[in-house]
Amino acid sequence: MIRLIKGFHDILPDETPKWGFIIRTAGETLERFGFREIITPVMERTELFERGIGQVTDIVEKEMYTFEDRSGDHLSLRPEATAGILRAVVEHSLLRREPILKVYTIGPMFRRERPSKGRFRQFFQINAEVLGDDSPFTDAEAITAAHAIMTNIGASGLMMEINSVGCQQCRDDFRAKLRRFLEPHLDELCPDCRRRYDLNPLRILDCKVDRCREIAKDAPVISDSLDAGCKEHFHKVQEILSLLEVPFRVEPRMVRGLDYYTRTAFEIIHEELGRSKAVGGGGRYDTLLKELGGPDASGIGFAIGVERLAMGMREEDPSYARRTDVYVAILGEKAREAGIRIVNSLRRQGLSAETRYSGMSLKAQMKVADKVRAKNVLMIGDDELARQEVTVRDMQTGDQFRISMDGIACYLQGDKR
Ligand code: HAM
Repeated sequence: MIRLIKGFHDILPDETPKWGFIIRTAGETLERFGFREIITPVMERTELFERGIGQVTDIVEKEMYTFEDRSGDHLSLRPEATAGILRAVVEHSLLRREPILKVYTIGPMFRRERPSKGRFRQFFQINAEVLGDDSPFTDAEAITAAHAIMTNIGASGLMMEINSVGCQQCRDDFRAKLRRFLEPHLDELCPDCRRRYDLNPLRILDCKVDRCREIAKDAPVISDSLDAGCKEHFHKVQEILSLLEVPFRVEPRMVRGLDYYTRTAFEIIHEELGRSKAVGGGGRYDTLLKELGGPDASGIGFAIGVERLAMGMREEDPSYARRTDVYVAILGEKAREAGIRIVNSLRRQGLSAETRYSGMSLKAQMKVADKVRAKNVLMIGDDELARQEVTVRDMQTGDQFRISMDGIACYLQGDKR
């Protein structure tokens, strides 16, 4: 038997209703907020992610599926969606036609992380971006949209944590402060962090090695290094979120794992999964579009991981469990032709209809009807056939009665619950 690749997973038919519900609800919510769908390839040039996400990040240094194709091009499976979306926006000059652009995409991302509960090597993200507007109202709108997705899906036990990571200037000041704090501990840091010290000390703050975490606990926080403009922006975001009644908590120690963020950053944390396995995350980026060859415009976005979101939800729930309008129980050889014609005609009329052809007993067929969660069962045997009727059983009430074959669709459509 050939097995699945480590860290990858199948989404089996019993789970797809929940997945479908999440993806549908997220898409509908984002459309209500004015986002339109964009679909970009799962593979891009490696350089795009190096420039976009940052060369000294775990994602780019350790986690990308990168290879050289037969013509020598360096390609990578996308570890996130933002860089690819921005590449497409720049390449097709979308901001020229629409100076404020709101787009979303839902699809698989790939990171070669160590697999564990809620951490996969292929995972799905619901990803949204607003480009061309740097007002704090837009930050609040993006956070509100992420919150609305959670609410509409009915996810519980989640907390919105927000922070400001400042602009480039604040970050330069903070880097210097951080280096001063870390210098006496340099020897105690892991080899990766010693390298990060020179190249990108902010990354030390989300190192997963115990000793580094312990040291980072007492490190200065970026919110103390914000300039007046960044402070005011962050203050305004909080004010608008309160006005919109979106619950949040300020988390001054939050640094995101990607380098492109400026000012507002946020994460959606699950009480049980904890911070290292956030359900969602995002933030503002002021220079990314320009770095990727686009206009000097700002953006903000977020991504929610579908696996982590789905973990807290039941497989079976009336709001997304699949139901079948009608199961047609064919009883005996003679009834088969009429039975399959009825099934086919109901499907053509837009109803979901299911049957079995193999001459099963009524009892066995009622089990199938239960399994497919049929709302009604139609029974056709010799007697019904002779009278051109069918026996209907309403599976909710248990009522059973006869109707003429001509009236089936009419009855079921009136009955569509
Ligand atoms: P991120 O925080 O790297 O942000 O990922 C967002 C979400 O993707 C995480 O909160 C998590 O739910 C999910 N995720 C990430 N890695 C894994 C994994 N190995 N297994 C399962 N789920 C995972 C971004 O990707 C940014 N591009 C978000 C963004 C959009 N920022 C601005 N615009």
